[in-house]
Amino acid sequence: TESYGLLRPLAIGGEPLRTAPEQLVLPAGLGPAGPVALPDEAVVCSCHNVSKGQIRAAVHDGGCATVPEVKKCTKAGTGCGSCVKLLGTIVTEELQASGVTVDKGLCEHFAHTRTELY
Ligand code: FES
Repeated sequence: TESYGLLRPLAIGGEPLRTAPEQLVLPAGLGPAGPVALPDEAVVCSCHNVSKGQIRAAVHDGGCATVPEVKKCTKAGTGCGSCVKLLGTIVTEELQASGVTVDKGLCEHFAHTRTELY
C-alpha cells in the first residue's frame, strides 16, 4: 500500500508509462524512484485536478514553502485528503532541490521526525 500515492496518479493520467511496469511493483529500492518519477502532467490531486507541474510551479513561482501554503494556492489536498502524503513529498523534494533546508519535525514545537520519535 505504500506505493499507492505514487501509482494512483500514474493510473489516472492515462499517459503511457515511462518506466517498465515491473519497476512499479518491485520491493523498495528496486521500484520507482518516488515522486521524482512522475511526469509534470501527472494528476496528483484528483479531487481538484491538480498536477505535479502545478504543485512544482506553486513552490517555485508561487513562493509556497509549506504544504499548507501549496494547499491554499492550488487547492490540492483540500478534498478527500488521500493525496496529502504525496503532496508533502513533492513539496519537500522541490524545496530540497532548490537548496532549501526543510524542517522535518512533527510540528513547530517538536523538532524530531516521526521516525526519530519511534
Ligand atoms: S485527491 Fe487530493 S484531496 Fe482528494
